[in-house]
Amino acid sequence: MLNKIEKLKEEILQVAASSMEEVEQLRIKYLSKKGSISALMADFRNVPAEHKKEVGQKVNELKSLAQEKIAALKESFALNADKELEEVDLTRSASPIELGTRHPLSLVKNEMLRIFEGMGFTIAEGPEIEDDWHVFESLNFAPDHPARDMQDTFFISRNPADILLRTHTSSVQTRVMEKNQPPIRIVCPGRVYRNEAISARAHCFFHQVEGLYIDKNVSFADLKQVLLGFARQMFGPETKIRLRPSYFPFTEPSAEMDISCDICGGKGCAFCKGTGWVEILGCGMVDPNVLKACGIDPEIYSGYAFGMGIERITNLKYKVKDLRMFSENDVRFLREFEAAN
Ligand code: DAH
Repeated sequence: MLNKIEKLKEEILQVAASSMEEVEQLRIKYLSKKGSISALMADFRNVPAEHKKEVGQKVNELKSLAQEKIAALKESFALNADKELEEVDLTRSASPIELGTRHPLSLVKNEMLRIFEGMGFTIAEGPEIEDDWHVFESLNFAPDHPARDMQDTFFISRNPADILLRTHTSSVQTRVMEKNQPPIRIVCPGRVYRNEAISARAHCFFHQVEGLYIDKNVSFADLKQVLLGFARQMFGPETKIRLRPSYFPFTEPSAEMDISCDICGGKGCAFCKGTGWVEILGCGMVDPNVLKACGIDPEIYSGYAFGMGIERITNLKYKVKDLRMFSENDVRFLREFEAAN
């Protein structure tokens, strides 16, 4: 037994390791439960009682020796690791951050706003969380108008006041007219919300650009000219427009505007359902009731308004068939617009 201890001691005194893994191997070899020192402990039972003290001491010394040796080896590798760290150049610049691309809806919105800015419009914005007055009441919606129904509008609170998510950007008209006297010439981009089931053709939120011009002697002909100018700049100089009579509570008369289908050039295709025309906006002359509600005298001033969906214009420009693509944040889709950025 003493011999075995002596041999192991010499062996341990000479051990060396070239990596942390090798140190671990040595620890397992000598100090683990199945290691050679544990084996000695097991043999200890067979040592005659008169030698137990001496042998016990030697085994303990050997164990301490092995522990110290392994701790020393470990430390030397830890130091080396620190040295390696010192060799890392912390002043080097980090790898470049990959730039993202603008969302297609932002690209189209910016293009739309640039066109209207070129025609003298300024940009106005309003809150997405609105009240009944700005979204409905001031815009001449009768109290029982179906658009106020729970099915279309996300209500936040009914008591004390009706607080809701705006269903259209026409609410910004009211906000601007309440605070300013004409001339007013604004475009209002923003997100709107409607309680609709999500599908390829509808979503519970989407984006609009609203336009408003109030001044003395504003006529329907002015409206038509601005919309024609917009359509030609947005979709090309060959683009035709047509206005169909329609109804909105806040305009009188009201119209919906179609443009000649940008996809088939007006010949008729699946997108325009064979008609050669696609609807892109609603518009009309601001109803005198709306002007009155906002503190503007309809005997002196008149004006026009229009509103259109940014998704619809984007669909036409980039042929995106499924509305859900716009909010899924799939980078493969978003990267397709890199060139347009
Ligand atoms: N607010 C309407 C909507 O959300 C769009 C609209 C139609 C806006 C006619 C207008 C307008 O300003 O004159 O469907």
